[in-house]
Amino acid sequence: MKILMNDELIDREQAKVDIEDRGYQFGDGVYEVIRVYNGEVFTIDEHLERLKRSAGELKISLPYELETLKNRIRELVSVNQVRDGGIYMQVTRGVSARNHLFPGSDVSAQLAAYPIPSKRPAELQKSGVEVMTAEDIRWKRCDIKSLNLLGNVMAKQAAADAGKYETIFVRDGVVTEGSSTNFYAVKDGTVYTHPANHFILNGITRLKIMEACQNAGVDTVEKEIMASELGQYDEVFISSTTIEVMPVVKIDDRSYSEGRPGPITLLIQKAFRELLTD
Ligand code: PDD
Repeated sequence: MKILMNDELIDREQAKVDIEDRGYQFGDGVYEVIRVYNGEVFTIDEHLERLKRSAGELKISLPYELETLKNRIRELVSVNQVRDGGIYMQVTRGVSARNHLFPGSDVSAQLAAYPIPSKRPAELQKSGVEVMTAEDIRWKRCDIKSLNLLGNVMAKQAAADAGKYETIFVRDGVVTEGSSTNFYAVKDGTVYTHPANHFILNGITRLKIMEACQNAGVDTVEKEIMASELGQYDEVFISSTTIEVMPVVKIDDRSYSEGRPGPITLLIQKAFRELLTD
């Protein structure tokens, strides 16, 4: 496997991280997970724009222009002959003697990108999944796709330990998002989801789902969903680059649409897939 390390494509065995990389020591960096369908990097512009935004919020300057980065990512996909899979990419603030303060401008950001396996979870997309809720213990800049994922990984592990697929975070009574997914609830044919503010990551799949809803004639409303009102909704689903549109059939002890994916969710799942074939 070839890895993109800064602007070089090198063998996996040659790819090494410095112990003083700030990503390693402080989680001081940002990342993206991108899907490749049929050899095409899906929504690459949106992912690179979000990477740039995340980096900018942390005052990390990306080492290359987005256009250069886009070409390098496509090259990476091509040399590794990725047909259906994913690309993980991250940018850290760089390598410098450990100090909380940002290093000087002589230290440049470090980029790494490589293919990761990613396959549509087709069976679960048909059956739906069960999730649990937990307090959102994360920081208040969840809009930044930062490498600091402890709150997320702890929540994901708690879900697995409880035999659930995902943990849905609740902050001050409001449902925000999942540990690695966005959250949606459907009522009377309208899709509700948390506004894209500092409390959630503005998922690229979320943006595409909004587009898919529009194509399918389904109204969408960005508003806070109270955890105490979850029982009033007809259907629930979650989304991400890796799981696309995933029906949720149970949250904690409450089942939705008789334990099967609801009709609006299935309609959106279909409308989303249609965007992939463009
Ligand atoms: N996670 N919210 C959180 C906290 C996430 O980590 C993710 C994605 C999403 C969905 O974003 P998108 O649709 O752009 O994938 C929402 C990725 C897949 C990950 O960390 O593996």
